[in-house]
Amino acid sequence: MTTATREPRTAARAVNRIGAILAARGIDPRAEIIPEPDTVTALQLADARIPPRYLGALADHPRITAWTDEIARTGRRGPGGVPGIATGPSLLIAGPTGTGKTHQAYGAIRALLAAGVRLRWEATTAADLYAAQRPQHGSDPEQQLWRLGRSPLLLLDDLGAAKHSPWTEELTYRLVNHRYNQLLPTLVTTNLPVAELRDAVGDRVASRLAEMTDRVILTGHDRRRHTAG
Ligand SMILES: Nc1ncnc2c1ncn2[C@@H]1O[C@H](COP(=O)(O)OP(=O)(O)OP(=O)(O)O)[C@@H](O)[C@H]1O
Ligand SMILES: [Mg+2]
Repeated sequence: MTTATREPRTAARAVNRIGAILAARGIDPRAEIIPEPDTVTALQLADARIPPRYLGALADHPRITAWTDEIARTGRRGPGGVPGIATGPSLLIAGPTGTGKTHQAYGAIRALLAAGVRLRWEATTAADLYAAQRPQHGSDPEQQLWRLGRSPLLLLDDLGAAKHSPWTEELTYRLVNHRYNQLLPTLVTTNLPVAELRDAVGDRVASRLAEMTDRVILTGHDRRRHTAG
C-alpha cells in the first residue's frame, strides 16, 4: 500500500472516531455551527484593559479630536472595509500635573475604537517600561520592548518623569526610534515643559519627538486637588 492510499484511510478513521466521541456526548457532528452574534465590541474589549479611572475618558481637546479624526480618516482598510491603523502622526500631550493628559490620551484611544477603527494598542508609563526592562526571572525584556515598538498604537505615558540615566535613555531611544522610523502613531504624555524634555530624555529622543509629534499643551489647575478641595 502506498502512502497516498494509507493517508485517506487514516483520516477517515480519525473522523469516525471523533464522530463517535461527539455522538457519545449527545453532539451531532453534522449539525450546522451557527456563530455567536458578535456582541462584544472593540470598545468593550478595550475597556477591560483601560485603567478604571480612565474608563469613561472623553478626549474633548480640539487638537486631540483633530488627531483622532485624522488617524481614523487615513487608516488603511482591512477585511470587510474596516479601517485600521497604518502609519500616521503622533501626539505629544504636555502640561503640569493633574491637567488631564492621561485622561485625554485614553479618551483618544476610546474615540478611535468608538469610530470603528480596528486597533491593536499598548499603553505603558515610562517608569513601568523601565521597571519591566530590568532582568527578572521568567521575563523577556527584549520581547516586551519589541511588542511596544511594533504596536500599531502606543501610549507612552509620563515620559521624563522617571530618573534619567544612560540606560533609560537608550531604552527610550530604541522604542521611540523604531516608532519614528516606521511612522507608527504614538501618544506621548509628559509633565515637563517641552523645552526641558531634551535634558530629561536625551537629545536623540527629543529630536525625533520634535519631528514626529503634534504638540498639545494642557493648562489649568490640578484636577485632582480641585476635586478633593
Ligand atoms: N476632561 C476631564 N473630565 C473629567 N475628569 C477629568 C478630565 N481630565 C482629567 N480628569 C480627571 O482629573 C484627574 C487627573 O487627570 P489625569 O490623571 O489625566 O492628569 P495628568 O495630567 O495625566 O496628571 P499627571 O501629570 O500627574 O500624570 C483624574 O482623576 C482624571 O480622571
Ligand atoms: Mg498622567
